[in-house]
Amino acid sequence: MTKQKPVKKIVLGLAIAGAVVLAGAYGYAVAPTETRKIEPGPQLANLANGAKPDAGLIEKGRYVATASDCIACHTAPGGKEFAGGRVIQSPIGNMYATNVTPDKETGIGNYSLDDFDRAVRHGIVPSGGTLYPAMPFPSYARMSDDDMRALYAYFMHGVEPVKQANRDNEISWPLSMRWPLGIWRKTFVPVQGPMDLTKYADQKIARGAYLVQSLGHCGSCHTPRAATLNELALDESGPEYLAGGPLIDGWLAVNLRGDKVDGMGNWTAQDIVDTLKTARNKHSGVLGEPMQDVVKHSTQNMLDADLMAMALYIKSLPKSGNKKATFAASDATVQKIMQGNDSERGVQLYLDNCAACHRVDGKAAGDVFPALPGNPTVLSADPTSLIRVILAGARLPSTHTAPSDLGMPGFAWRLSDEETAQLVTFVRSSWGNQASPVGAAEVAKVRKLVKEHELHTADKGDTKH
Ligand code: HEC
Ligand code: HEC
Ligand code: HEC
Repeated sequence: MTKQKPVKKIVLGLAIAGAVVLAGAYGYAVAPTETRKIEPGPQLANLANGAKPDAGLIEKGRYVATASDCIACHTAPGGKEFAGGRVIQSPIGNMYATNVTPDKETGIGNYSLDDFDRAVRHGIVPSGGTLYPAMPFPSYARMSDDDMRALYAYFMHGVEPVKQANRDNEISWPLSMRWPLGIWRKTFVPVQGPMDLTKYADQKIARGAYLVQSLGHCGSCHTPRAATLNELALDESGPEYLAGGPLIDGWLAVNLRGDKVDGMGNWTAQDIVDTLKTARNKHSGVLGEPMQDVVKHSTQNMLDADLMAMALYIKSLPKSGNKKATFAASDATVQKIMQGNDSERGVQLYLDNCAACHRVDGKAAGDVFPALPGNPTVLSADPTSLIRVILAGARLPSTHTAPSDLGMPGFAWRLSDEETAQLVTFVRSSWGNQASPVGAAEVAKVRKLVKEHELHTADKGDTKH
């Protein structure tokens, strides 16, 4: 039995719906597509004569592929690298990422540099059809020509060819038509030249901007989307850029801007580097599969200097400023508990269920358990991730430099919706945290979501991390 794991179903479903809505609104067929043609450059000039690119270029391409996390979608759990088959769910049906190994029959072995460029940076396959934006070509559009050539050299000469036929997408007509996607692409992903990196204050930040916006496609999850489902901004020129995305498989992709309350305002650049390298830092741990996969397959394998560049770029983003919650460190909660004032139900529930690990002061020890005061997940306007981690628990993934995979148990079996709401409200209003209270109805919604997710993964024979 193949193990399948849903990826980014929400984003994708929305994107498809958006494309179709747009198509209706425009009601015209697709005009011929223009792209910016890529030159083979001296590195690839001899490929046509059967020459192999030099090992350095292939190795560089491997790194570009790692920083771009191509493997996350194009490898099925337990399957051969890059041979495709991973399911991506959407409300209108499942789709499968394709085989991108250089096999000539079932993969992309016949792709020219130009074909490859058009697919990766413009979302257009050789037959002329447009890819679903589940393939993050709106971000890859910013990739430099140099990196693109290296990536091509790697996929053609550094990846093992695997003969594995692509699975057909299970999307039924009329939603399976691709021409609306062409309109969506033309409207929202205009053809552009390479990024202008001279506008950034220093070279490290410029490198970070490039990695975050282009290869890392961080915005595909962390930037909110318009009704037409394009990301509201693709770089820092828009205040919504990385301001916190929609739910990805039921986890809220947190605000990465400078807000002190629910963003990165209280994190140092080194804290961000620690998270990208080890899935945890002294404030927090990565909770959900979508971001754990990013760390496992991509960022933990990147150079420290690149991680620092990304962190410095993220730290250069001003706050988005439209958040309601506040945080000002306070020890009033601890004093209240110490004085034996645990008359509130929320306090009792915290002491009985949580304090053993997160301690009375919510700060816990070192990098082992996340601190709850000033924590973005705790203070976020949308409490879904907070409720979800209490109901379903979470397990820190094991990374090269932090191999322990510590876990938090789920409390769904033990706490009612009402009790969970009281506990969540307590955590959101203690130790200086000041975020809105949460009601039992909101907990009930997340409980349903968690159940559906578990049912789904059990159905598919998935393994839980
Ligand atoms: C978030 C998931 C995701 C990531 C990351 C991703 N892809 Fe894709 N890719 C897809 C999906 C899904 C499709 C098929 C979309 C469709 O059917 O319209 C696809 C299609 C493609 C195609 C067209 C393949 C064909 O069979 O004609 C190529 C080439 C490709 N991807 C290469 C890459 C490369 C190279 C990277 C990394 C730089 C990458 N992809 C990263 C999801 C992803
Ligand atoms: C596939 C979707 C996805 C992509 C791509 C993605 N993230 Fe995330 N990220 C999430 C989600 C969801 C969360 C919040 C839940 C969690 O902690 O897992 C998150 C959380 C985070 C956090 C906070 C972690 C914590 O401990 O609270 C940081 C920092 C972060 N992401 C940075 C990045 C950067 C930088 C990139 C680009 C290299 C990126 N993310 C790409 C989905 C994504
Ligand atoms: C057995 C120890 C343990 C217990 C008991 C426990 N936790 Fe946790 N908690 C953890 C660990 C470990 C993590 C990090 C998990 C991860 O990142 O995957 C965590 C993560 C969290 C997070 C997410 C923080 C972040 O930065 O993303 C919150 C919120 C949280 N716990 C609250 C609670 C509450 C409320 C309770 C009581 C119902 C509780 N925990 C009980 C160990 C525990």
